[in-house]
Amino acid sequence: MKVNLEGKFALVTGAARGIGQAIADMLTANGARVAYADIDVATVQQTAANKPGALAVAMDISNESSVQSAMAEIHKQFGRLDILVNNAGVNTAKHRVNIDQFPLEEWERILKIDLTGTFLVSQAASRIMLKQQEGRIINIASVLGVVPARLQCAFTSAKAGVAHLTRTLAIELGEHGILVNCVAPGSTLTEGTKQLFYSESASEKDRAKRVLSHIPLGRAGTVEEMAHAVLFFAAPESSYISGQTLCVDGGWSAGGFFRDF
Ligand SMILES: NC(=O)c1ccc[n+]([C@@H]2O[C@H](COP(=O)([O-])OP(=O)(O)OC[C@H]3O[C@@H](n4cnc5c(N)ncnc54)[C@H](O)[C@@H]3O)[C@@H](O)[C@H]2O)c1
Repeated sequence: MKVNLEGKFALVTGAARGIGQAIADMLTANGARVAYADIDVATVQQTAANKPGALAVAMDISNESSVQSAMAEIHKQFGRLDILVNNAGVNTAKHRVNIDQFPLEEWERILKIDLTGTFLVSQAASRIMLKQQEGRIINIASVLGVVPARLQCAFTSAKAGVAHLTRTLAIELGEHGILVNCVAPGSTLTEGTKQLFYSESASEKDRAKRVLSHIPLGRAGTVEEMAHAVLFFAAPESSYISGQTLCVDGGWSAGGFFRDF
């Protein structure tokens, strides 16, 4: 997909790697100037290096003063903000357990980054977009925020919150020309998840098989497939769509699907 984002200024959080990097690169390739923001400053500087018009920014989305100073820097450099992509997020790797064993600190860590972080960056961006009376906010949730899975209660709840925050902001900000939408990825191949899908270990192979059994298309998605959905919501052509969550999940959320049935 090719759209014209010439003259547009964008911010993508969690842009050092993975889906965020693919989104930032795709917005850049379609003509936008993009602030690549991440808590991992060294990596995001490398990622943004030599990308036309790119700005690397240090930002911890879960820390209000970090968000405010990063946003001030972006506004100083760009003078406006047309597109915000709230992509940065985390899940639990260590604590894949039912609620009775789920540590409160892990619940609070995930909620603070995935949900509060999305709130903080959206709040800072909305203050700029309200002055412009124009803007796009695109949140990255997860299919697990639409159709939950066991053993990840903090992540599924935070991502359901992101999808509902999307609808809330769409009705708060619509009259000011600000459109708010959400992309909910299914299993996506990144450096992190490649270990699962290409592992030689028997237990990981079994886990990968169980994950794939939920996906009618029978494979994980690519970071580019996620970025294309974001590009659609950022495009001038999608000017009458707000408050929507688009699952890019190979059919996972369409309903119960069991390959062996
Ligand atoms: N990969 C998947 O299968 C998948 C599936 C569903 C949803 N998602 C969502 O997509 C988004 C991107 O996922 P990914 O797989 O590319 O993740 P990733 O771990 O590869 O990259 C996430 C990036 O966010 C950054 N980050 C983490 N905490 C941050 C913070 N507090 N402030 C700023 N940056 C921070 C990290 O440094 C990293 O660069 C996340 O919101 C994730 O929940 C991913």
